[in-house]
Amino acid sequence: MKYRKLKGVQDILPPDISVWQFIEEKARKIFRSYGYREIRLPIMESTDVFIRSIGETSDIVEKEMYTFKDKGDRSITLRPEGTAPFVRAYIENHLNNEPAPQKYYYMGPMFRYERPQANRYRQFYQIGAEAMGIDDPKLDAEIISMLSLILEAVGLKGLNFEITSIGCKECRPDYIKALKDFLEDKMLDFCSDCGRRFKTNPLRVLDCKVPGCVKAKKGSPPVVDYLCKDCGDHFDQLKNNLNRLNVPHTINPNLVRGLDYYTKTAFEVSSENLGSQSAVAAGGRYDGMVKEFGGPATPGIGFAIGMERIIPLIKDSLETTDGPELYICPLGNEAAEEALRIAEQLRAKGRWVEVNYDNTSIRSQMRKANKINAKNVIVLGDDELKNRKVTIKNMGSKDEEIVDLVINEYHKLIQSGK
Ligand code: HAM
Repeated sequence: MKYRKLKGVQDILPPDISVWQFIEEKARKIFRSYGYREIRLPIMESTDVFIRSIGETSDIVEKEMYTFKDKGDRSITLRPEGTAPFVRAYIENHLNNEPAPQKYYYMGPMFRYERPQANRYRQFYQIGAEAMGIDDPKLDAEIISMLSLILEAVGLKGLNFEITSIGCKECRPDYIKALKDFLEDKMLDFCSDCGRRFKTNPLRVLDCKVPGCVKAKKGSPPVVDYLCKDCGDHFDQLKNNLNRLNVPHTINPNLVRGLDYYTKTAFEVSSENLGSQSAVAAGGRYDGMVKEFGGPATPGIGFAIGMERIIPLIKDSLETTDGPELYICPLGNEAAEEALRIAEQLRAKGRWVEVNYDNTSIRSQMRKANKINAKNVIVLGDDELKNRKVTIKNMGSKDEEIVDLVINEYHKLIQSGK
């Protein structure tokens, strides 16, 4: 074998692909009922799009971006997430001119140079949603409720919805001061990254998974204790609305997001059946990002679901065996030509029909029909052609029925669920 796929990427093949399509279809249907419209954005962007928004000192920007110079010496990055490119496109295409909230969704690959492990990939797929132009906490509750509906619709159970508020640029300085005071005398226990982060962006220390840092930051002050009145009210109303909508959730004042752009609401959904990479979806508010990107001050909120995280949780419970509705086994040249004609006519009516091309015995053709999970089979030989009648056999129930060799007859039979 000369070539192999890169580390941390996947080939997604049938029958697994039907699980992917199942999730995508469920999500699209729910997005539609909430008025979210699809957008497709480039997979690569100018590197600047990500640096300030995600945060210069975030793990993503510091260590995980696929960044390269193109032939014009521009710095290009394969998108590690969808929100920053979305905000770039929102401003560039003047989407703020539409009535608020402007609601969009996307599906597609993201790229992070992380250490591959179970359910963590370097190319992974997200289904994301973003709603712009409204800072009312009812929208926060609604989008979290929509996320919960999508996850429920694909069959996920026992998920943990954790929410918090991480404040805004008014109250964050007070919190950062309190955090720094708390962490100051523990600096000796920090990893070298956190030693630096303590000075540049102490909030990032909270995100560090190195055991020494995890221990050192234990008991650090929770950000929710430092919210200004506006953020506190927003958070209270979010909780009330989630209760009113019956969206089960827990408050986690220590929830930390790996991206710097969040303000106020932040949330994460996890499953205890996934091991260490337990987050299936996450999101939050980013009320400052549009302005920071040079657009008109516009609040925004969104989330992204990790496809590879939900697939293993639902795969086994889904029926993925798919097969043709009709398999035609011709015996002889004339029958083979007639089989092709019948197949084409039925396909034009939207039926999935396969023809055997092997010119072998009935037994071996039937074996093949079985292998590809054909629902019904007909054998087409000299007698059938002469009498214009065929036997249609249901491969599940083994029932047989003789029908006229007229397209409408099979069409009807297949349609009636045989
Ligand atoms: P995030 O938390 O970085 O948020 O990613 C969202 C989800 O993507 C995670 O909860 C996880 O399910 C999945 N994910 C992340 N990294 C990987 C990986 N290496 N392999 C497999 N799955 C992964 C964002 O990306 C934000 N843009 C979400 C957002 C939208 N916030 C507001 N709007």
